[in-house]
Amino acid sequence: MPVSFTKSALLLSLMLGLGQAQATSEPSPSALATRLGIPHPAVIAHRGASFDAPESTAAAYKLARDLGADYLEMDLQRSKDGVLFALHDNNLQRTTDVATKFPERKDSPANEFTIAELKTLDAGSWFNTAYPDRARPGYVGLKILTLDEIIDIAQGNPLHKPGLYIETKEPKQFPGIERDLKDKLQDRGWLSPTGSKLAKSNLAVGQGKGKVVLQTFEKSSLELLEKEMPQVPKILLLWVGEGSIEPKSKVTFAESGDKDKATYYAKQEPKDKAEFQQWVEYAKAQGAIGTGPSAALTKGGDQSYSDLVKPWMNQFTHDQGMLVHVYTIDDAVDYQKVTDAGVDGIFTNRASELLKFYKRPAAASVAQLLQNNGY
Ligand code: G3P
Ligand code: CA
Repeated sequence: MPVSFTKSALLLSLMLGLGQAQATSEPSPSALATRLGIPHPAVIAHRGASFDAPESTAAAYKLARDLGADYLEMDLQRSKDGVLFALHDNNLQRTTDVATKFPERKDSPANEFTIAELKTLDAGSWFNTAYPDRARPGYVGLKILTLDEIIDIAQGNPLHKPGLYIETKEPKQFPGIERDLKDKLQDRGWLSPTGSKLAKSNLAVGQGKGKVVLQTFEKSSLELLEKEMPQVPKILLLWVGEGSIEPKSKVTFAESGDKDKATYYAKQEPKDKAEFQQWVEYAKAQGAIGTGPSAALTKGGDQSYSDLVKPWMNQFTHDQGMLVHVYTIDDAVDYQKVTDAGVDGIFTNRASELLKFYKRPAAASVAQLLQNNGY
């Protein structure tokens, strides 16, 4: 090939390349995730592998870890005596035997219990009753876990080290929890810089740059998380409703006549495009690296909310140089739908299924891994 042609071609391609760079100045979602040390796409084990084992317990987190999930997701609360622990609900009724052990306090918020009191509760048996087809004797008597214990689990498998994906749950109930979280993560060495080689390994998310991701629905908590831990990736969770994106329709569920909440939420949408966009822009301005939007699920159910992962929404978020991690999806049909719409990671209760979908199947079955861990 004549040299002059090569030079011209090179010049032309540089010019074209420059033109492209100007048109899309933000890195691709995949490049952004890699830079942050966040797997792309990311498998976020929602309350652990909580389809197969009681949510937020050692059984669920060990299973998620051993399956090869990228992140152990948790909802963070603080006990009366100041210990950080994982629990989704505001009170203990659904997932523990609080009504038997503390009948007069059964409706009390979990944060009105000391950690010693919380540790007396059985956080596993409810699962056996609710899901007899997935019940196991080993789930009886499982305990509520402290953040320290979840960190131990995350570090406990030499072959796979997942990261932590931590939500400040109802943070207004826990003034200063962002600072407490920082102190704990710092004490445990989870805020220390790490080598770039480790960050590139899917087996060692928990040892790389993206080993912790922080998430919240609350603007004020996002701001405090950014103040306390500016170097840690943060996600602003989104939904349509009070305290988040303003809906187009003000009709309440009770007024709607809809047969269930999933049907109602599926019809809910942001007031307009600008309303959605301003939440994403706000998240970016406060230092978030992405958003965690809800999804409308094909089968409905109590995890089905408004569809906030429409292609234009994901495109807008990507155009801001941000990632999209959607919650909470368990079925292949929906994995495919949100993937086609452009998301960068999925919260799932079924880490085993999502790993299969992403062509990263676990080396052993759910049953085998549960048995290996004594359940
Ligand atoms: O944290 C993302 C997702 O978990 C939000 O829903 O209510 O399960 O915490 P929730
Ligand atoms: Ca959560």
